[in-house]
Amino acid sequence: MACDLLRRHFAGLKTILARLYDKAREAGRRVSLLVYETIPAVTSLAKDSPFLRACRREPVPYTPVWFMRQAGRSLPEYRQVRAGMPMLESCTKADLITEITLQPMRRYQVDAAILFSDIVVPLKAVGFGIDIKPGVGPVIEEPIRELRDLDRLRPLEPGDVPYITEAVVALVGELGARPLIGFAGAPFTLASYLIEGGPSRNHDRTRAVMYAEPALWHALMERLTTITSTFLEVQIAAGTSAVQLFDSWVGALSPADYRAFVLPHSAQIFAALESRDVPRIHFGVGTGELLGLMRHAGADVVGVDWRVPLDEAASRVEAETALQGNLDPAVLLAPWDVVAERARAVLAGGRIAESHIFNLGHGVLPETDPDMLARLTDFVHEESAR
Ligand code: CP3
Repeated sequence: MACDLLRRHFAGLKTILARLYDKAREAGRRVSLLVYETIPAVTSLAKDSPFLRACRREPVPYTPVWFMRQAGRSLPEYRQVRAGMPMLESCTKADLITEITLQPMRRYQVDAAILFSDIVVPLKAVGFGIDIKPGVGPVIEEPIRELRDLDRLRPLEPGDVPYITEAVVALVGELGARPLIGFAGAPFTLASYLIEGGPSRNHDRTRAVMYAEPALWHALMERLTTITSTFLEVQIAAGTSAVQLFDSWVGALSPADYRAFVLPHSAQIFAALESRDVPRIHFGVGTGELLGLMRHAGADVVGVDWRVPLDEAASRVEAETALQGNLDPAVLLAPWDVVAERARAVLAGGRIAESHIFNLGHGVLPETDPDMLARLTDFVHEESAR
């Protein structure tokens, strides 16, 4: 079964690569190196990068750093290339995905790039009625109410997202020794949008479905688990060096409910990736009480938001766990002295962990000054040099 799945993914990748190869030849470009040989060669360049070493809890020359939402609205060049184009449309254009992913890499000496996409891209790709409204977030045409609604969530095929493969292949070539992080939304966070119909404060309806209709809940989570697993497989097959599973809103649950209603599904996603030799990062907001369980789901690296100091977080996860985080993104709106002091405190907490990747506790706020992020990146490198 797993073997068959792998073969299918590989076949999908080969078809897309063959198309790229033909395109280059048609355009009269000399194809000096077969892409088939290039991808593993380039991916292995990143293998010894500080970011991947930190994910594996190996010694690093300095604490690696990247920022959630480093690409996006805080950058004027992003706003320029996105002008007039709907968010989800921009996520289907390989050249735009590539450009937007690279924009922060030109400004900051960050240790990893994160693919420009969105957690709802695979849902849109299977034909589900979903859109992203500017300033609002994902909105659903017809929310999930009953088992019959699940027919609208068919499995994802690699051929549904050719632009992801195309962009990852191009990016891996461009980035060289700098690793590319792929990502997906975790089933709970995706389910919360599908049930609520859009963003919500406390995810009350979602929790109500969980308690009142467990059969519908688990059937929905299984569908989303399959879609998410394939979406991550496609990214890994094309060359991403690590993946992050965003369970942004799962902090709405108690540990007992997380264990019963979420953990088995997220664990299945991580287990399916076990043999792929790419570090698995797991992140959510307000998940202080869930950090141990999120590690237990099968993550190598646990992302921490700004509410729990990293030394405390280290005591909440089992041994052999790397931590990622966790400067409050709002701190970046304060003067530099405050940023430096707070960043130093994050680094101090990170030294208690077995391994630490510096990041924010959630995404970069749109009003953040990019120069502040550039300065912070250099500061983290200098302060942590060993
Ligand atoms: O981190 C990166 O640089 C990669 C890009 C990225 C985006 N979405 C691009 C985006 C990532 C990793 C995501 C994941 C995502 N999307 C999550 C999990 C991460 C998190 O923040 O917790 C969630 C919950 C979503 C759903 C979503 N999509 C929201 C809440 C929004 C913001 C709505 C708004 O306008 O305020 C989006 C849209 C979105 N995704 C934007 C970007 C750059 C803004 C769209 C725009 O430019 O108009």
